[in-house]
Amino acid sequence: MTRVWDLPLRLFHWAMVVAVVVAAITGFLTPEWWLDLHSVAGYALGVLLAFRLVWGVFGSPYSRFRSFPLKLSDLHQHLISVLHRTPRIFVGHNPAGAWMIVVLLFLLVALVITGVLALGGRENLGPLAFVTVYQIGNISREVHEIAALGLLWAVAIHLLGVFVDTRIFKHPVLAVMMIGNKMSSDKRANGPDGTHTARGAVWFASITGLLIVVGVAMASVTPSGWRNIQTPADYVAECGDCHDAYHPSLRTAAAWRSVMNGLENHYGEDASLDEGTIADIRAYLVENHAGTFDTEVANRIGRIDTPSFRMTDVRRWKKQHRDINESVYRLKSVGSKVNCQGCHKDAESGRFDDDKIHLPSGDKS
Ligand code: HEC
Ligand code: HEC
Repeated sequence: MTRVWDLPLRLFHWAMVVAVVVAAITGFLTPEWWLDLHSVAGYALGVLLAFRLVWGVFGSPYSRFRSFPLKLSDLHQHLISVLHRTPRIFVGHNPAGAWMIVVLLFLLVALVITGVLALGGRENLGPLAFVTVYQIGNISREVHEIAALGLLWAVAIHLLGVFVDTRIFKHPVLAVMMIGNKMSSDKRANGPDGTHTARGAVWFASITGLLIVVGVAMASVTPSGWRNIQTPADYVAECGDCHDAYHPSLRTAAAWRSVMNGLENHYGEDASLDEGTIADIRAYLVENHAGTFDTEVANRIGRIDTPSFRMTDVRRWKKQHRDINESVYRLKSVGSKVNCQGCHKDAESGRFDDDKIHLPSGDKS
């Protein structure tokens, strides 16, 4: 009997399975406001992967990358022996398994990196919010999606490999990954013992603990694409009467000038004010226009001009909201599609975070 997978490695493996399942469900299936849980799964994966990379150098024999049979000739030979149904038994990974792990780890690392970049750049959240530019976030998100699809395929192939090993060749690989030991009558399958469990557990705990502390510290850094601005009281009083007092990052400077210069005929209403108040409000809006924010809403909607100067006429806005039933806008808590705050609980701050979207239901007026 040989101890193949040490305790830290097995903990890593099953924790990662949980994290990937959560990340996949919240990434592919649930709506945007589950982004929180998706990020938590991503951070967990990041910590686990960092641990695995360290463990691949300092871990017990079969966990070390150096022990992986990665020679292409080995892989070739192994695949042929599988086809002849006479595969050699390996104590650690067989060549196909080892390549599988390399591909899986590579995709997972790519997913964590692009995920953090997308979160920082597009949503101004997470540990990289203070460095990432919106465009970098956007590109990262595309790569993230491709890598996620790649991971689904890789996991499917991995499971197929486990199935073939268990069912056809009767190697209890699943049990080995749970209890850590491999028993074999084949002499070649017995190698040096892979454990040093107590030392391993301490390593596991200290590395993951340290990484969590670093992660939390980085996540608490204030984002840069978004900033907190002081809203003048007369803005809320004069412009928040008939609809939301919009965040300045929702429109261009030109749009704000035009709105403020045409208040006597304001979308069919007379919203005229005295010259001094107009000048104050205009200065506030123009100073903080969409170009001065690097948030998703500023990039996607705020910076796009429309002939009507309306943000609700921006193509992107229409696309984002096309699945919403007209009747929802008429609910008492919303009133109209121009009341962003009715569904975006943080609209006033200009953040429009995904997890602050709340589609109301039931309170019909
Ligand atoms: C007397 C009521 C009233 C006041 C006061 C008012 N508005 Fe409006 N505003 C409207 C109406 C009505 C619309 C069109 C709403 C709709 O299409 O449902 C509108 C639309 C807008 C829009 C375009 C929304 C869209 O569809 O994208 C902007 C921007 C806007 N107002 C800014 C302002 C600002 C800035 C002020 C303060 C100077 C202000 N409003 C004050 C009634 C008002
Ligand atoms: C009736 C509720 C409702 C109103 C009112 C509303 N939204 Fe939304 N908005 C949503 C929902 C729901 C989504 C998510 C759509 C999706 O991703 O499937 C969304 C998505 C968005 C997004 C994309 C968010 C992201 O991260 O992908 C932006 C930006 C946005 N809305 C801006 C606005 C602005 C600006 C207004 C006001 C002019 C507004 N919304 C009014 C419900 C609303």
